[in-house]
Amino acid sequence: MLQSAAKVLSFASATSVSRGIAAGIRHYCKNTPTKLRVSQALSGAELGSNIKVQGWVRSVRAQKANVFLHVNDGSSLQSLQVVASSELSDPLLTFGSAVEVTGILKKSPHQKQPVELDAKQINVVGECNPSDMALSIFANFLISGAEQMLLDNGFVEINTPIITSNDCEGAGELFQVEPSGPDYADGENFFSVPAYLTVSGQLHLEVVSGAFSKVYTFGPTFRAENSQSRRHLAEFYMVEAEISFTQSLEDLTKVMEDMFRFATEHVLAHCVEDVDLFHKHVTPGHREYLVSFLRITYREAIDILRRSSERFAFPTDWGCDLKTEHEKYLVKHCGNIPVFVTDYPYDLKPFYARDNQDHPERTAAAVDLLVPGVGELCGGSLREERLNLLSARLEEAGLEDVYSWYLDLRRFGSVPHGGFGLGFERYLQCILGVDNIKDVVPFPRFSHSCLL
Ligand code: 4AD
Repeated sequence: MLQSAAKVLSFASATSVSRGIAAGIRHYCKNTPTKLRVSQALSGAELGSNIKVQGWVRSVRAQKANVFLHVNDGSSLQSLQVVASSELSDPLLTFGSAVEVTGILKKSPHQKQPVELDAKQINVVGECNPSDMALSIFANFLISGAEQMLLDNGFVEINTPIITSNDCEGAGELFQVEPSGPDYADGENFFSVPAYLTVSGQLHLEVVSGAFSKVYTFGPTFRAENSQSRRHLAEFYMVEAEISFTQSLEDLTKVMEDMFRFATEHVLAHCVEDVDLFHKHVTPGHREYLVSFLRITYREAIDILRRSSERFAFPTDWGCDLKTEHEKYLVKHCGNIPVFVTDYPYDLKPFYARDNQDHPERTAAAVDLLVPGVGELCGGSLREERLNLLSARLEEAGLEDVYSWYLDLRRFGSVPHGGFGLGFERYLQCILGVDNIKDVVPFPRFSHSCLL
């Protein structure tokens, strides 16, 4: 009897304990916020729920009773508006800080926003340099803008090789690639020929432009320039385009200008707040770049430099390479807008540049785009498609064997074509007005610096 009473009692208490646990779980579930990404919150599917989002503050607006935040976690271009009473505000709550916000997702009274988060708790979990963050966002939009312009205009993207056996620019600024480890101690070339990290994808693009007409590549490029300058890196990214049936430099500069305009407008349209922030804290605005471009010849550039009262460190005679100081001066002189300089002396340009055959000066159909604050942003040219002229030049340089495959492209039928390369980091420098190229990349590579 006693035993069965004890059983009943223990059963009863077990039941009430389990009821308690169930109630506890229900209570816990009701109060535990559902973690959502910003894109999920914005979809409105969880309206009325207790949710938690984690992300970075894109803007903060404080009013008397409330503070309004825009929080973004990279899952959507749109940010989630958070409304919090001013007691929840924190001095660390600023543009770029990483936050965890818990609250109730509500329909927004404002037409622009589908929903807003009525915050019950805000934890600042990390800080971030706002200009670094804006920089990465810019970089993404510049890439997508440039690529969109090319794809919309019928270009085909080609992944050109990073390891190559040619020195496209002929400047000898190559990093050689060798395997390491005990299996490769005998000094034999892994590829049977010396191999290098690419200095340009141009020659490979020239091959495929013979099939697709318009091609481009966007990839890493390497130059062993022993330079500590403010516009040189040992590893940088280049957008390169190659266009078949291009007869004139005007055709080429049109594509360069369109790409510059489109990508810049794309950034300005999509990153209004970041652009404003950057221009407010780092550099004044550069929207005026979009207004106009100027075209001058190398001859005109030299005339401008020689008439100037400026004391240049490097000579400004016909035939001299334009240095950064000259390029910056020319841009300023032309009204601080992008300037195309065309028709450089033949001897200044690599073997692939097309001979203008304009004796006695002898220029090549090559073009550089100079931009404010940076100088040269793009380099391009018509390519020498005439077999006799190209082989004579390669022979003169003792390169006809190395480039026999390149000569074959002409030997078996080539069309007039041309292309250009745009240095991506210099583009960022130009749009953002950043003085040193090392400040626009998270992991800059230059001589004596390859940490991490
Ligand atoms: O003028 P470059 O050397 O042209 C070429 O490589 C051509 N093969 C491109 C082509 O026609 N497909 O380089 C193109 C651009 C420069 O205008 C500059 O913006 C950038 O690449 N660049 C560098 N950027 C950072 N660090 C360096 N060391 C750079 N060297 C060139």
